Amino acid sequence: MQFDIIIKGGTVVTAAETMPNTDVGIAGEKIAAVGTGLAKQASAGRVIDAKGKYVIPGGMDVHVHLDMPFMGSCSCDDYDSGHRGAAKGCVTTTIDFALPYGQDSLNQSLDNWMERAKKACVDYTFHSAISDFKRHGKEMKSIVDRGVPTFKEFMIYANMGWQSDDDAIFATLERCRELGAMLLMHAESSKVLDLIVERHRTPELMKKFKARLHTMTRPHYIEYEAIQRAVTWCEVTGGKLYIVHMSTRQGTEIIKAAQERGVPVLAETCAQYLVLNDDVFKRPDGHLFACQPQLKRPEDTERLWKGIAEGTVCNVSTDTCSFTKAQKAIWNGDWNKIPMGLPGLETLLPVVYTEGVLGKRISLNRFVEVCCASPAKTMNLYPRKGTIAPGSDADVAIFDPKNKKKVDHKKLETKCDWYPLQGMELAGFAECTLCRGRVIVENSKFVGENGYGKFLKREPFDY
Ligand code: URP
Ligand code: ZN
Ligand code: ZN
Repeated sequence: MQFDIIIKGGTVVTAAETMPNTDVGIAGEKIAAVGTGLAKQASAGRVIDAKGKYVIPGGMDVHVHLDMPFMGSCSCDDYDSGHRGAAKGCVTTTIDFALPYGQDSLNQSLDNWMERAKKACVDYTFHSAISDFKRHGKEMKSIVDRGVPTFKEFMIYANMGWQSDDDAIFATLERCRELGAMLLMHAESSKVLDLIVERHRTPELMKKFKARLHTMTRPHYIEYEAIQRAVTWCEVTGGKLYIVHMSTRQGTEIIKAAQERGVPVLAETCAQYLVLNDDVFKRPDGHLFACQPQLKRPEDTERLWKGIAEGTVCNVSTDTCSFTKAQKAIWNGDWNKIPMGLPGLETLLPVVYTEGVLGKRISLNRFVEVCCASPAKTMNLYPRKGTIAPGSDADVAIFDPKNKKKVDHKKLETKCDWYPLQGMELAGFAECTLCRGRVIVENSKFVGENGYGKFLKREPFDY
C-alpha cells in the first residue's frame, strides 16, 4: 500500500472510539485507512510521528462572523487571521453567516460572503440570513440549490435591519420543512429588552453602573422567553430549528423538555458561556466583554456543561465576532453602542478540552463529538467531515494532551489587541493540523495558504 502521509502511533479519538497506538493513512485529500501497524506494512511520502499525542478529526466552528460590518464597525478577524487561528486551534471548517445589508437579496449576500472567503485557509460554508421574509422567502429554494440548506433569523437587531418577527419566523419554518432546510435563531425578546434598556438609559445610571448596565438590562427571561416562543413555532410547523449561542440554564431546560417531546429543535452554546460570567462587567475594561446574549451567571455555565454532557446541547461554537479596543471604544459610556462580540475561534477546542475533559465534565469522546462530529452531522457534512474513517476528508488535528499554554493575544493569530481568556492555561492547541490532506499547521506554526480553503456544498436535510 502507498499513502501520501501516514500519521503514526497516536491515540486516534473519534466521537465513538479511542484507539491507542493507531496509524492513519492519507491518500490525496482523503483518509484511506485507519489501523495498527499501517506504518510497517505501507510506504508513505511522509510519516508524522504522533506518539503520545491525540489525533482527532478537524474541528468545526458552525458560528463565526468574519469580516462582518456590524454596529458601525467591521469585525476585525477575517478569512486570513480568523482562519489561521482556526487551524492553530484544531478547526478545519468554519460556517459564517451571509448577511444582507439594505435591500440585498439572499443571493447577493451569499455572493458577498463568497468573495470575502476567497482568502480562506480552511474549508467553509455559510448560513443564509433572512432579514425580510416577504422578499427573501422567495429566494430560499435557490439558496438551498446553491448548497446552503441553513438559514438564520434574528429576533433582535432592528437597528441593523435584520429583525424578524413571529410571522416571519413561523413562515420561514414552514418553508424550511418544505425545502429540507433548517432555521438558526438568535433568540432574545426585543420588545421587553428595548423597554428595560430605555428605563436604564439615564446619565445618572450610566455614570454609576457603566458596562454593568449590559447585564442589568438583559435578565435571563430575555433569552428564555424567546427560546420558548421559537420552540412553539418549531413544534407547530415541524420545521427544524437550531438555537444559536444559548446562554441560560432555563433555555437549556426548555430545549431538553422540547426534545423529549420529539420537537425537532437543537441548541448550541459558545465557549465563552462555559468559562466566563458577568462579573467581568465590573472590571474597568468590562465593556470589552459585551456580546449578545451577554455572559451569564456561574449556575448557567454549569447547567450548560451538564446540557453538553447529557446531549441537550449538541454543539459548542464561538460566535467569533472580534473587535479591537479602539473599535469597542466607540461606546463612550453608552453600553448600547458597544460593537457586540468576542474573539474565540483559536481557543474553541482548547477551552472545551481543558475545561470539559481535563475538568472532568465530559469524556474525551464527547469532546470530539461536540466540537467535530456533531457540528458536521447537524450541518449535513458528516461523514465527509467530523470523523477519522476511510473515505472522510483528511482533516486531522494532532495535539499533546499535557501541553498547556498560557493564552496571550500577542501570540494568537487574532487581530484583536486584547483577549477575553487572556492568561488562562489551556491545552488542546494543534501541534499539527491537516486540511484535506495538506499540512497547514506544523510545530504549532501556521504553514497553510490563503485560498486553499474550499466552499462545501451541502445537501438538504431529511425530514
Ligand atoms: O454579540 C454578538 N454575538 N455579535 C455577533 C452577532 C450575533 O448576534 O451573533
Ligand atoms: Zn446572535
Ligand atoms: Zn453570531
